[in-house]
Amino acid sequence: MRHRAWAGLERQAPVTVEVHVRPGDALRALRAEVLAGLCGDCRPKELSPKWLYDERGSELFDEITRLPEYYPTRREREILEAHAGDIARASGADTLIELGSGSSEKTRLLLDAMRGAGTLRRFVPFDVSERFLRQSAEAVAGEYPGLRVHAVVGDFGLHLGKLPRRGRRLVAFLGGTIGNLKPPERARFYSELAVGLEPGEGLLLGTDLLKSRERLFAAYNDRAGVTAAFNRNVLRVLNRELGADFEPEAFEHLAPFDEENGWVEMRLISTQPQAVKLPTLKRYVNFAEGEVLRTEVSCKFRAEQVEAELAAAGLHLTERWTDAAGDFALSLALKR
Ligand code: SAH
Ligand code: AVI
Repeated sequence: MRHRAWAGLERQAPVTVEVHVRPGDALRALRAEVLAGLCGDCRPKELSPKWLYDERGSELFDEITRLPEYYPTRREREILEAHAGDIARASGADTLIELGSGSSEKTRLLLDAMRGAGTLRRFVPFDVSERFLRQSAEAVAGEYPGLRVHAVVGDFGLHLGKLPRRGRRLVAFLGGTIGNLKPPERARFYSELAVGLEPGEGLLLGTDLLKSRERLFAAYNDRAGVTAAFNRNVLRVLNRELGADFEPEAFEHLAPFDEENGWVEMRLISTQPQAVKLPTLKRYVNFAEGEVLRTEVSCKFRAEQVEAELAAAGLHLTERWTDAAGDFALSLALKR
């Protein structure tokens, strides 16, 4: 018995962790964003979506992925089940970097395919949510003996220049998280990523495609109220980190589709006039009844638009796959 346990331990290499976002940095960034984004004249008041993902928020997002109305995760998994082998072959990668990795649940399909192709050496999950990242990285390391797992705590809006350089790399950005960046941030993201890649290395990008506003509405306003809890959780983050006194129940969740911008917009709507105290910032934030705090946009794409945006950054589409219903796309683009 003892002998076998040791054999298991020997085969699991320790997870290494590189930290680019320390708790103090995150707190400074949050304070700056709150001052800039929740100011008296800000219309709408706005926070960036990364604050949704503390440990509780990450768990709630995982719950969202299992909701009957939330199709993107199931559709992307369907594509990966059919094409992970093609992706492993076409990329020839030995190192899989995953941005915004979360639970890395679907990523196991890619890891399996790379292992099957005999190329898999290294996995680099990269996420801003440190605790959740550490847990997910440990879980993957436990399931893939011999795989080197190097987790990076970073912000993909700030730290793409810090991606590890070793190996032949494929960067996966799954789930449609690219849609949580607005067009100018997205363009910056693609160029910064492309600059750091070597010719032949590439990006595997998941994008949610445009569809009826009814289906989009259902996916972001689920009946069980999980997305509402995920959205309101950001107010608990502000309470905990800044000593604020938001009453989450005094804000309603609504996520309509904005046709003009082509995005679903997550809103928290103040149900009454209220003044929220932010003691560590020595401020009050005033909300009128009906006033909106925007917590996320989720852009929906046409496939050709994705191809054009990638090409503008020097990332050339090699192949694109969609699920049978045409809801979601995975694009593999390589740097020439
Ligand atoms: N890729 C997973 C998880 C998507 S949820 C999937 O497809 O299911 C979005 C993930 O991105 C979360 O884990 C969140 O913590 C992370 N994230 C959000 N903003 C980020 C940022 N600016 N930098 C790094 N990670 C970020
Ligand atoms: C992580 N991201 C792709 C999700 C999305 O669909 O935009 C986050 C989310 N927001 C509400 N539901 C899910």
